Amino acid sequence: MRKQIVAGNWKMNNDLAQTETLITALKSHKNTSNAEVMIAPTATNLWQAYNSLKNSNIEVVAQNMHFAENGAYTGEISANMLKSIGINTVILGHSERREYFNETDELLAKKVDAALAKGMNVIFCFGEELADRKAGNQEKVVESQIKNALFHLEGSAFRNIILAYEPVWAIGTGETASPDQAQEMHAFIRKTLADKYGSDIAESVSILYGGSVKPNNAEEIFSKTDVDGGLIGGASLNAEDFFAIVNAF
Ligand code: G3P
Repeated sequence: MRKQIVAGNWKMNNDLAQTETLITALKSHKNTSNAEVMIAPTATNLWQAYNSLKNSNIEVVAQNMHFAENGAYTGEISANMLKSIGINTVILGHSERREYFNETDELLAKKVDAALAKGMNVIFCFGEELADRKAGNQEKVVESQIKNALFHLEGSAFRNIILAYEPVWAIGTGETASPDQAQEMHAFIRKTLADKYGSDIAESVSILYGGSVKPNNAEEIFSKTDVDGGLIGGASLNAEDFFAIVNAF
């Protein structure tokens, strides 16, 4: 049985006090589903969040990391640094990092390798732009992103990888992919995995959907066969909305 996961990507939101306020609100909600719950605060708040949630069922994850062990990379954070504060899962490949920080598939492959080498779990994000979708190239784009960044790995590595399909045109726009569009792409992604690594591994990997998931659309999206949860942006900043999505399973 694949894991069901709902992860909140807070992006660049919440200072220390606001982080504590939101975490207090999150703690007041009950997870009535079987989904694993994760939140990704900004790096300055990870230690605080980890300590506030270490006795809860909410995992604290990082939004990014560098591939190097350490060194002259001003402003960057290494896997060791994240592990040293109890963080064992990291989001990599988010479209905003691809767009604003020019993160290529090749760079992301190095980041994935670095995270896995330290025994971390990776939430690997990918997805097509609106122009790709309008041209009917969504499958070609997504296949290329996955193959370029992940298909150098052994199949066993996927025990530590969560995939997150995030059509860029649905992120932060309120323009959600329809449940059928999400299922169509998730099924394609799973087939792409199966063609390379076999059906056992493909069926074991959780594939999350991200892009304007809200309390009013989560249940239908999560009901799809190959959708194993969501990577939630805006709605994760409100505890009630976030747990309405978690409990949509
Ligand atoms: O990583 C999740 C994020 O990109 C989705 O954002 O605000 O559309 O839920 P949002």
